[in-house]
Formats: sequence, structure tokens, C-alpha cells
Amino acid sequence: MTRKLFVTTALPYANAAFHIGHMMEYIQADIWVRFQRMLHHEVNFVCADDAHGAPIMIAAEKAGHTPQQFVVQIAAGRRQYFDGFHIGFDNWHSTDGAENHALVKDIYRALRKNDLISTRTIEQFFDPVKNMFLPDRYIKGECPKCASPDQYGDNCEVCGAVYAPTDLKNPFSALSGAKPVLKTSEHYFFKLSDPPCVQFLENWTQDGKLQSEVANKVKEWFVKGDDGQGNSTGGLADWDISRDAPYFGIEIPDAAGKYFYVWLDAPVGYLASLKNLLDRRGTNFDTYLADPQLEQVHFIGKDIVTFHTLFWPAILHFSGRKVPDHIFVHGFITVGGDKMSKSRG
Ligand code: MSP
Ligand code: ZN
Repeated sequence: MTRKLFVTTALPYANAAFHIGHMMEYIQADIWVRFQRMLHHEVNFVCADDAHGAPIMIAAEKAGHTPQQFVVQIAAGRRQYFDGFHIGFDNWHSTDGAENHALVKDIYRALRKNDLISTRTIEQFFDPVKNMFLPDRYIKGECPKCASPDQYGDNCEVCGAVYAPTDLKNPFSALSGAKPVLKTSEHYFFKLSDPPCVQFLENWTQDGKLQSEVANKVKEWFVKGDDGQGNSTGGLADWDISRDAPYFGIEIPDAAGKYFYVWLDAPVGYLASLKNLLDRRGTNFDTYLADPQLEQVHFIGKDIVTFHTLFWPAILHFSGRKVPDHIFVHGFITVGGDKMSKSRG
């Protein structure tokens, strides 16, 4: 039987050239795709630049360009690497493309209709020198779980803990070095903690599709406990999907000055890149995805498992869309035991 496969690799941030960690992922996926094609299976293998978010906005500003100009320049430097490493993507697109803007808004409207969006006012770190709310990645401090220094505001690369930036010990702004102050703003949330959502994800993550190491890690995020003083801890928390202007991203419908957090629109970019490809071929995108035989496969690194095993399947399922069939997770190329990364130089 011919398999129909829609395969992706993680969308790299459009703030720098590729490094060997990206290439390793593309080579791994490319080998798998070539193998499937040798067996005469039908594959669409796509990727795209992850264009949005505050870090890209800040990098563009430093370079004296608009974010749009900046990401176009980065994209123009990609070709030589695909050619040099013989990586056979069928399409390379951008999360700032028209397809993604439209798909993200459709998905959001469907989630809102299904009562999975809530709003509340939150306190957030604000850089009093830069005069803007600080994105998680621009707040650093000590991990609240293991006390490792120099960790980002959203998760610890040493012990794997996931937390809020306000949980960090001794926080500082990576933009100005200033001690951040707390300021309030209204935010939009995806109700990940809604019981039907938790139930769906418990099944989806533990039904055998994930590598056992990954399934075991994911299982920990569902475990509820208490802190010994009557407060419940752990379990899935609602996901903050909005960011305040200034932000380079997709505007939230009916919410002036609010943008979708980049991690809401980034995985939708998988679908946007596929749609861009199919539209050019004259193939109907909705019909293609509606085929019950179609398998959706994502290759990713272990740092982005939460996004691909919790948020992504949940927003797809609860907006009435197809969910992924396989998530293949790889480890890191390391330097001196730490993840090799551009942000660490
Ligand atoms: N933009 C997000 C992904 C969005 S997917 C909807 C992102 N980008 S990234 O550029 O930081 O990473 C892209 C991919 O490269 C991820 O799968 C990541 O795990 C992988 N790698 C980044 N550094 C790596 C190593 N040092 N080693 C192996 N893979 C690495 O995350
Ligand atoms: Zn830690």
C-alpha cells in the first residue's frame, strides 16, 4: 500500500544562517524521506523560515531594517546549504506569508468558537530602560528548580524544567541588563487545562506514537501534586498566546494592539508551507489533508517537545483539524556538554 506522507522539519528562526544542528535535523529527515520515496510512497517534505517574534524584531532594528526586509535577507542565504548538503525539500516558505496569516486566524476563530480562549490580566516583566514588555528569552536568571545560572525565562536547558519568567531567581533583562519591573496587561490564553483538552492530550501522548523516552518526559507534565501547604502544583496550565505591541507577528482578530505569540503561529507555518506548495501545483489543500490515509510527520529537536506534543496537537484537534501522526525527536549537538547554539555564541 502506498503511504501518503506530509513531512516537516522544525522551522528555523529567521535571525541567522543555519548551523550544523539545523543541518543534522535536515539530513536525518531527508534520509527518511528518500527511503520512503524508494519504497514508492508519496511524500511532501516542507519547511519554512520562522519569521516572527521579538528576537527577530530586535535583531532587525539593530541591523537598521524592517523585520520583513531582515527575514527576506536571511531566507536568501538558505539555498547554498540545501544545495551543498543535497537536502531535497519540496518547498521552503515563511510564517509571514499570506497563507499563514489566514490559517492562524481561522484556527484562532475556531478555538474561540469552541470556547477554548480566555482572557485575563497578568503581570509581566517590563524593561524600564527599553520601554517594552520583555519576551521570555530576554529575561535570564537562575532556574527555580535546579538553581543553574544563566537560564532563559521559559525553560531550563540543564534540568528541563518548564516555568514562568517570574519564577526565575535574580532576573535581569538581557537587552539592557536592567532589573525588570512588573506591569499589567490583558492577555489571551488557550485553555490547555480544560478537562477535555487534558484528557485528549493524555491519550494522544500516551498511545504509543511517541518514542518511549519522549512519552515518559511528557507524562511528567500531567502530574499534579501539592506543595505541602494546600496549594496544587504541576499539571497543564493555560497557555498565554498573546503579546503586546511592539511585536512582529500576526494581529489577533478583534484585539487592538495584540499579536499572536510566535509559538502559536510557527507550527501553523507547516500547514502554510504545504498550502503554498499545493496551491502552486493546483492541488486542493483541504482535500489533501482530509485524506484519512495521510500521515503527518514532524522531525524536531528535544528542546521543542512541549510545543509539538501539547500545544500543537491541542490547537489542531480543538479547531477541528488533523493532528500529527508521528513526532521524531532528536538530541543536541553539544559543545563542552551544552547545546550548541547561536545565542550562546
Ligand atoms: N523556530 C523554532 C521551531 C519552530 S517549529 C514550528 C526553533 N528554531 S531553532 O532554529 O532554534 O531550531 C530549529 C531546530 O534545530 C530545532 O528542532 C532544534 O532542536 C534544532 N537544533 C538547534 N540547535 C541544535 C543542536 N545544537 N543540535 C541539534 N539540533 C539543534 O526552535
Ligand atoms: Zn534547572
